[in-house]
Amino acid sequence: MTSHTPPRPVSAAPGTPLRGRVTVPGDKSISHRALILGCLSIGETRVENLLEGEDVIRTAAAVRALGGRADRLGPGRWRVTGVGIGGLAEPAEPLDFGNAGTGSRLMMGVAGSHPITATFDGDASLRSRPMRRILDPLVRMGVEVISEAEGGRVPLTLRGPAETIPITYETPAPSAQIKSAVLLAGLNSPGLTTVIEREATRDHTERMLAHAGAEIRVEPEGQHGRRITLRGQPVLRAGEIVVPADPSSAAFPLVAALIVPGSRVTAEGVMLNPLRTGLFQTLREMGAELRETNRRDIGGEEIADVEATFGPLEGVEVPAARAPTMIDEYPILAVAAAFARGTTRMRGLAELRVKESDRLAAVAAGLAANGVRVQIEGDDLLVHGTGGAVPGGGTVATHLDHRLAMAFLVMGLAAREPVTVDDGAMIATSFPSFLPLFERLGARFRA
Ligand code: S3P
Repeated sequence: MTSHTPPRPVSAAPGTPLRGRVTVPGDKSISHRALILGCLSIGETRVENLLEGEDVIRTAAAVRALGGRADRLGPGRWRVTGVGIGGLAEPAEPLDFGNAGTGSRLMMGVAGSHPITATFDGDASLRSRPMRRILDPLVRMGVEVISEAEGGRVPLTLRGPAETIPITYETPAPSAQIKSAVLLAGLNSPGLTTVIEREATRDHTERMLAHAGAEIRVEPEGQHGRRITLRGQPVLRAGEIVVPADPSSAAFPLVAALIVPGSRVTAEGVMLNPLRTGLFQTLREMGAELRETNRRDIGGEEIADVEATFGPLEGVEVPAARAPTMIDEYPILAVAAAFARGTTRMRGLAELRVKESDRLAAVAAGLAANGVRVQIEGDDLLVHGTGGAVPGGGTVATHLDHRLAMAFLVMGLAAREPVTVDDGAMIATSFPSFLPLFERLGARFRA
């Protein structure tokens, strides 16, 4: 298991307006998948703008441990040499995924569908996260769980069957990670694997599999859901993958611009996949001035430059059905809501309890520590906004959660008193350039 270095507190202080243009790193979801599909492809895959955050670097290490090659050719430029579906080697050591839920869960589907034994492990955050949701469908596909930590957690060891059984599976929670683990396992099983989701979640696995040559069909299911059918054992050629800028990372400088008086910030080339843009929709409903220009397409995804300008925000009600399209953005939305006039009610946040931390409890605690009135009602979060600068002055416990650290540093840039996060180290898992990027916009931090 990863040993965690001593915590590194960071403080953000209010200061001058934020101004300028930024390019945030490549999308985390697509970066993990680029390496994984590269490993399962025949021949070479070239990846441009890969997110070189710690989570993704763990996935690259897992690719190597399973017999593939992942070579860094330059900043964000990688070459993956695949082993092809069915070609994985047994790893000599446990696969240590650090903080990475996505990398570990997707790789359970990949390794579990090969007749090899593989052990998965991670840091204290990953060790606390539920893995039964991945193991249940994999067991139905013939995977043997040789050992697991109490409650279905890592460290756990899987042994794949001689031939993986294709299944039809309805996901028990709206989770792209569960869907993707089953589809990736289905790649190495004969016949059709079907995943049904009651609420559509991010569809990067489906899009990237189709791009790499898999036969995959996506149909509507019910009011908000999808039925995805994949024919197993295709020959994949991922070819060239250009990773667009991560909307979940762009959220931080954009919300900062909305709440720091006098600010205007443009995030360039942000991916606008409709299953990822719930935050932007919500911010607009709150009255935010968010302007999209230069819409274009890269690698099958629509992107645009998104400009945010400071202005007043109003509290809104965020429907539960929108949660899958902004699941990682609630910490930063809660910060925006703290500055809005009136109450924001975010409905249906049960899944937030099983992220890198219990984000529902941790966001509420962080807001309260900084003088914001907040309530949890069932699975809903209510933030009573101040309609201006929040008091600040508190220290936030981040529980090894990068998005909590970033969200509360953004709060500190607009609060009356500095805000301290107890540990900024985890920011490197998804947004290693966060502090210097904000400093270029005019932000002040004390590490
Ligand atoms: C992800 C899916 C989401 C998200 C995570 C990335 C993915 O998790 O929170 O950061 O790349 O598939 P769930 O699928 O568990 O909701």
